[in-house]
Amino acid sequence: MPTTDSLVKPAPVPNMSYEVKNQHLLDWVASAAALTQPDHIYWCDGSQEEYDRLCAEMVAAGTFIKLNEKKRPGSYLARSEASDVARVEDRTFVCTTIKEDCGPNNNWMEPETARIILKDFFKGSMRGRTMYVIPFSMGPLGSPLSQIGVEITDSPYVAVNMKLMTRMGKTVIGVLGEFGTYVPCFHSVGHPLSPGEKDVPWPSDPEHKYICHFPETREIWSYGSGYGGNALLGKKCLALRIASNIGKTDGWLAEHMLIMGVQSPQGEKSYVAAAFPSACGKTNFAMLIPPKSFDGWKVTTVGDDIAWIRPGKDGRLYAINPEAGYFGVAPGTSAKTNANAIATLEKNCIFTNVALTPDGDVWWEGLTDEPPAELTDWQGRKWTPDCGRKAAHPNSRFTVSATQCPSLDDQWDNQEGVPVSAFVFGGRRASVIPLVVQAFNWAFGVYMAATLGSETTAAAAGKVGEVRRDPMAMLPFCGYHMGDYFDHWLQIGHKVENPPRMFCVNWFRTDSDGKMIWPGFGENMRVLKWIAGRVQGTAGSAHTVLGWMPRYKDIDWTGLESVTQEQFDELMKIDTALWQKELESHGEFFAKMKNRMPEELVLIKQMLTLSLARL
Ligand code: GTP
Ligand code: SPV
Ligand code: MN
Repeated sequence: MPTTDSLVKPAPVPNMSYEVKNQHLLDWVASAAALTQPDHIYWCDGSQEEYDRLCAEMVAAGTFIKLNEKKRPGSYLARSEASDVARVEDRTFVCTTIKEDCGPNNNWMEPETARIILKDFFKGSMRGRTMYVIPFSMGPLGSPLSQIGVEITDSPYVAVNMKLMTRMGKTVIGVLGEFGTYVPCFHSVGHPLSPGEKDVPWPSDPEHKYICHFPETREIWSYGSGYGGNALLGKKCLALRIASNIGKTDGWLAEHMLIMGVQSPQGEKSYVAAAFPSACGKTNFAMLIPPKSFDGWKVTTVGDDIAWIRPGKDGRLYAINPEAGYFGVAPGTSAKTNANAIATLEKNCIFTNVALTPDGDVWWEGLTDEPPAELTDWQGRKWTPDCGRKAAHPNSRFTVSATQCPSLDDQWDNQEGVPVSAFVFGGRRASVIPLVVQAFNWAFGVYMAATLGSETTAAAAGKVGEVRRDPMAMLPFCGYHMGDYFDHWLQIGHKVENPPRMFCVNWFRTDSDGKMIWPGFGENMRVLKWIAGRVQGTAGSAHTVLGWMPRYKDIDWTGLESVTQEQFDELMKIDTALWQKELESHGEFFAKMKNRMPEELVLIKQMLTLSLARL
C-alpha cells in the first residue's frame, strides 16, 4: 500500500548497542529510513536477551503464541495470513539490464523500472513500525567462503528467524569492518500503520508482492510478504539467487542441496551433497537414521537446504552450508520418519502455521498416527479429526538452530568446508525414473541433473502435483540464465581433477495401485550405502543405457523384508516407451534455452535416444 502524502518526519535516532564504522552501511540504513519512514530504528546485536525480548513483544502483539513451557520450552507458534503461506514464484523477479541474461527460468524486470516501482511501494511503508537492521553472515564467521548480508526489515518475526537461521548480530559488523562489502537485503511487509491504527498479528500486503533481485549490483528488495523464502532474505534470495551469480563469476556453485556425512563401520567417511526440489526430502535425508541392521554406520548432518561448493587445492570440490539453522517442512515429520528432527525440535523453536493442541503444544499431519481429538488449526479455528480440513498448512514450517540437531556433523562450521565425494539428484516421480542410477561421467551426470523433473509441492504457491522440469532442484533459485548455468556446471567438473561421482535417485515410484513401492526415510540408507560403495570402488553394478545401476545382489537387504526382488525390478525398470517420451520432453525443455543450451547436453540426449531405440 504505497502512501502518497508528503509529510516527511525527521528520521528517528537509531537504537544501537555497538559501533558501526562502515560508512556505506550507515548511509544505506539512513536512506532506507528516509524512504520508509519508520517510527524507530533498531540495530540487532544477535544476543539471546534481544531474541527473548523480541519474542515477548510479539507475544504481546498477538503475532506469537508462547507454547507450553513444560512441553516445548522456549518455543512459539506464529500463524500467517492465509494469503501469505509460501514462496511466490510468479512475483519473484531477476532484474538484469539485458532481458536474455535472466533466462526463461526467471521473471524479468528492467532494473531501473523495478527500482521506481519498488521505491513507490517502500515509500512510507514502515510508518508506525520499527525498522530492524540485521547484520548476518552466510557461512562460518570470517571464512573466505562466506558472504555478509544486512537485512533491513519491519518484521520482528524476520529478525528472530534470522537469529536462528544465520550467524547474526554485532560480531558480523566486526568482520565487515570499515570497508567490507555486504549484500543489502531490503524488506518490508508492506503494511504501514496510520497514527492510532491497530496492528494485525501477521501484517503483509495481500495484493502486492515483489521479490526482486539485482544481480549486477548484488541487492535484494522484497515487498509485501512476511513468509519464509520471501522474507528471510539470507536464504533463497542471497544464498541461492544472488550467490549463484557470484559463483558464476568467481568459479563456484551455489546449490539447493543438503550436505551429509556417511561413515562406514570401518571408519571410512564420505560426504554427499544432494539436490531434491522443495518439500521432496532434503531435511529427511540429511538427518537419516540408518536401520537397526546397519550397525556401526553413521550419518551426520552438515546442512539441509543450501550448499556453496568450490574447487579446493587438492582437485576436489569442497562444500559449506551457508546457513546456521533449519526452516523445515513440518507435515510428515515424525519419530518414525525423522527422529533427529523431532529431537532437534524439543525446545527453542519457532513454528509457523502448524496446529495448536489444547495443552499448548504443536501438532501437524503425520506427527502421530492418531490425530488428537481436538486442536486449533493453523488459522486459529476449532479443529476435529472429522472436520474435513487439514490442521496444519501443508507448507507449515519449523525454525530451529542447527546446534540442536543430534546428528550435526563435527565439521559443519569448518571454514574450508567438507570434501564432496558424491552428488545426488532426486525428484518426486511416480514412474519413469529408477530408484538409483550412477552417471557414466561428469557430463552425463550434469545431463541427469539438468533434466531432473518433479511433481510440484506446497512449498510454492500454485498447483500441486504436476511434473515440471526442475534442473538441479534450482528452477526457482538460479539467478541467471539456466543455459549458462548448465555450461557453468560442465565447466566446473571438467576443470577439477577429482570431481564427485554423480547419482540420480527416486524414492517416489508407485505401483499400479498408486502405492509408493519404496519404503523411503531410514531405508534410503540401503541406497546411500551403495552410493558410498561406488565412491570407494567396492559396490557392484550393471551397465545400462542410462548409467550404472545396482543389481538386487548389490544392495544390502538385511533386516528388510518389505521389498522383494520383483518389487526391486519394478523400481529399477527402464520402460523404453516411457523413456522415449521422457527424452522428448527433455528436448522441449532444452529448446527453451535456445542458443545458450550447451551442445554437450544436446548430444547426450541424441545419444540416449539412439541407444534406447536398440533395446
Ligand atoms: P525444502 O525445505 O522445501 O527445500 O524441502 P526439503 O527437501 O528439505 O523437504 P523435506 O525433507 O522437509 O520433505 C518433506 C516431504 O517429503 C514430506 O512430505 C516427507 O514425508 C517427504 N519425504 C521425505 N523423505 C521421504 C522418503 O524417503 N520417501 C517418501 N515417500 N517421502 C519422503
Ligand atoms: C523451499 O521452498 O525450498 C524452502 C522453503 O526451503 S523457503 O525458505 O520458504 O523457500
Ligand atoms: Mn529449499
